[in-house]
Amino acid sequence: MANFSKQPDEGFYAGLRPESVAVLEGRPTGGGSPLNTPINVASNFRAGEATAGLQHATTRVYSRADGTESWAAFEAAVGRLEGGDAVSFSSGMAAVSAVFAGLQPGSVVIIPDDCYQGVAMVAADGEQRLGWKVLRLRTAETGAWLNQMESADLVWIESPSNPLLEVANVPVICQAASSAGVVSAVDNTFATPLLQRPLDHGATFSVHSATKFIGGHADLLSGVVVSRDRQALDSVRLRRTLGGATPGALESFLALRGLRTLPIRLERSQQTALELAIRLREHRIVTRVRYPGLPEHPGHDLAASVMNGPGSVLSFETVGSAVSTDVRISRLRLITSATSLGGVETTIERRNRLPGQERIPPTLMRLSVGIEHIEDLWDDLNQALDGVV
Ligand SMILES: Cc1ncc(COP(=O)(O)O)c(C=O)c1O
Repeated sequence: MANFSKQPDEGFYAGLRPESVAVLEGRPTGGGSPLNTPINVASNFRAGEATAGLQHATTRVYSRADGTESWAAFEAAVGRLEGGDAVSFSSGMAAVSAVFAGLQPGSVVIIPDDCYQGVAMVAADGEQRLGWKVLRLRTAETGAWLNQMESADLVWIESPSNPLLEVANVPVICQAASSAGVVSAVDNTFATPLLQRPLDHGATFSVHSATKFIGGHADLLSGVVVSRDRQALDSVRLRRTLGGATPGALESFLALRGLRTLPIRLERSQQTALELAIRLREHRIVTRVRYPGLPEHPGHDLAASVMNGPGSVLSFETVGSAVSTDVRISRLRLITSATSLGGVETTIERRNRLPGQERIPPTLMRLSVGIEHIEDLWDDLNQALDGVV
């Protein structure tokens, strides 16, 4: 019978580049096995031989606690790309919540003042229910983070941030946290494991909404937490087991299939994002473009030193009002107005329209650049931006 779970030994991956790892990791290798780990929809597993005192210790018993081969294959691939071990979840927010769930009542938490709204809501909830002290700091003001480090229990970084595209000094903040014995987590959703590896900089956790770039096709919800700290990761895994925020088998399969093409999707979309940022900057109605790939971006040099690329998301503002911006967005034919991001299709959103996003400038449009032809995207943007007063 084919051995589905046999994996290449560690030496096989030594020196392989991320583009190859994304394609190769998480596949069965036994003779006669399929090339892809099959969608394993098991909840229950047949009990094996009982061993004295420790029954079935090395086999899977129940998938909520022990996982499935579909999860394991996806986790193996993300873990290897990030340089740690991965635990996958039913969504990015489930992954986020599992990290925050490790905090005791009265804990001190530092978050960016412009972080993803769901994370801000988790922190506010802890503030109200559990008496957490939540410090909300500007992503780019590294000194402020360092000043508060000694008192913190958890430092949560998001870089580049959503939707203001601020860049955090991930190495300096994470190393300071590590020296102070503080848990640090980096939301690496925008950067992906290909553009930034927070664990290399001392982060305790790298966290993803795999719903976005990793999945890449707007057809699944998935989240991942990656760490090199076994104890910290065990505690996150326990949250999954007890909370039941387990990934679906189909979603794990699709997330891994998405990951296979992440390098090539990202290369294309990032190239297009840079070119669009340059063109938008020159557009007569555009007043500001936020993209770490532009030399004038305040975080450009930092991003260039910490990241392998500026990513595929940019935000821009225009003359006019929220209303005229909504009219412009409604004129787009090819670019989809939608809230999520990181897919092969280009999406746009006026973030300030959402509750809780009042701080975001009213005309700010966040553009998640996909893999369509740049000239088609540019023609679409141009015709939508022009002609509305
Ligand atoms: C940066 C970031 N982190 C976390 C999340 C939450 O992920 P999910 O929607 O998969 O729960 C999102 C979703 O938009 C996000 O943009």
